Amino acid sequence: MKINGTPYRSVWRPTEDPQSIRIFDQTRFPWEIDILELRDVHAVMHVIRSMQVRGAPLIGAVAAYGLVFALQNDPSNSALHKAAEELISTRPTAINLRWAIERLVTHLQNIPPEERVSAGYQEADAICDEDVKVNEAIGEYGLELIREIWERKGKQGRVNLLTHCNAGWIATVDWGTALAPIYMAHDAGIPVHVWVDETRPRDQGSLLTAWELGSHGVPHTVIVDNAGGHFMQTGDVDMVIVGTDRVTAQGDVANKIGTYLKALAAKDNNIPFWVALPSSTIDWRVKDGVKDIPIEERSSNEVLFMHGITDSGDISRVRIAPEHSPAANPAFDVTPARLVTGLITERGRCDASEAGLKSLFPEE
Ligand code: MRU
Repeated sequence: MKINGTPYRSVWRPTEDPQSIRIFDQTRFPWEIDILELRDVHAVMHVIRSMQVRGAPLIGAVAAYGLVFALQNDPSNSALHKAAEELISTRPTAINLRWAIERLVTHLQNIPPEERVSAGYQEADAICDEDVKVNEAIGEYGLELIREIWERKGKQGRVNLLTHCNAGWIATVDWGTALAPIYMAHDAGIPVHVWVDETRPRDQGSLLTAWELGSHGVPHTVIVDNAGGHFMQTGDVDMVIVGTDRVTAQGDVANKIGTYLKALAAKDNNIPFWVALPSSTIDWRVKDGVKDIPIEERSSNEVLFMHGITDSGDISRVRIAPEHSPAANPAFDVTPARLVTGLITERGRCDASEAGLKSLFPEE
C-alpha cells in the first residue's frame, strides 16, 4: 500500500542495511509517519509489547526477524530456544507469533549453527512474501462476497460494511485481512462505505483503520464502539467483516475486545458476520475458544487515560476516570463459531466449523 504515493510494506529489510529491519511506529499514526530501525531481539520484544507493531500477522513477521537477530551473537540451540520462548511470551493471544517462531525453529534447528543467521533471514523474508500473497488471495475471495451483496442490492446505493479494530495493511505485511476485500471492492468500482468502530481502549479503529481507509480514498465513518448495534437496526449495515488473532479448530474466533458484542448484534439483526484470516491464524491444537484461548490483560492505564492531538498539534494524554478507580483491560474476546457466518481464508470461504475448516485444509 502507499503512503503519500510511495509504496511500502509494514516491515522491510533495507538493501543498504540488510542486518536490520524497518517498521512504522504504530503508536504515532495518524499524526506522524515515524519509521523505526530494529537490529536486536530486545528491541523487537519491546516494540511488540508496546504495540508499536501490532496486528497478528505483522507481529509474527517482525518476531521472526527478532529470532534471527538473537542468533547473530550466539547461534547455538540453547540461544535459539531461549529467544523463541521469550519472543512467544510477548503477546499471548495472537497465534501467528507462535506460528512464525515455531516455523523458524523447525527450519533452523536442522541447519549448522554457523549458517543459521543467513538461513533465518531467508525464512523470515519468505514469511513476509507469503503473507502478502495470502492476504491478496483473502482480498479476492472477500471481494466476491462484497460483489454478491452489491448485486443482491440491485447495484443501488452502496454496500455498508462495519469493521472493528484494525485488520488492514499495517496489521499485516501488506493488504490486510478484513480490509483487503474492501480495498479491492473500492478499486473495482463497487461503492463501499465502512463504519469504523473506534475500538477503545487503544483506538485502532479511529486512529489506524480510518487513516488507512482515508489514505486509499475509501468512504468511511468513525463511530463509537456502542453505535454498531444501532446502525444494524436501522438497516445501515450489510455485512460485518473483522480480522482475528486466533481461530480454533472448531471455528471460534478471538479478536479485539468488543468483537463478540458486534457478532451478537449482527445475529439479532440477521446481518452476515464474516471473519478474514490467513491459515497461520488457525490454532489446530485448540477447540473451545472461550475456555482455551489465553486472553491478554493489558495495563489499566489504557482504560483510565485517553490520548489524542490538541488543536495546537501536541499529542496529549488525559485521565478519564477518578484517580482511585481501578480498571480491567482484557485486550481480546472470543466470538463462538455459532455467531460467525463464515471464514474467508487464502483458500476460499468456509463455515466456521470443524468440517468447514477441514474442507479447506484437509492436510490438518
Ligand atoms: O491488539 P492488536 O492491535 O494487535 O489487535 C489487533 C486485532 O485484534 C486485529 O483485528 C487482528 O490482529 C487481525 S489483524 C489482520
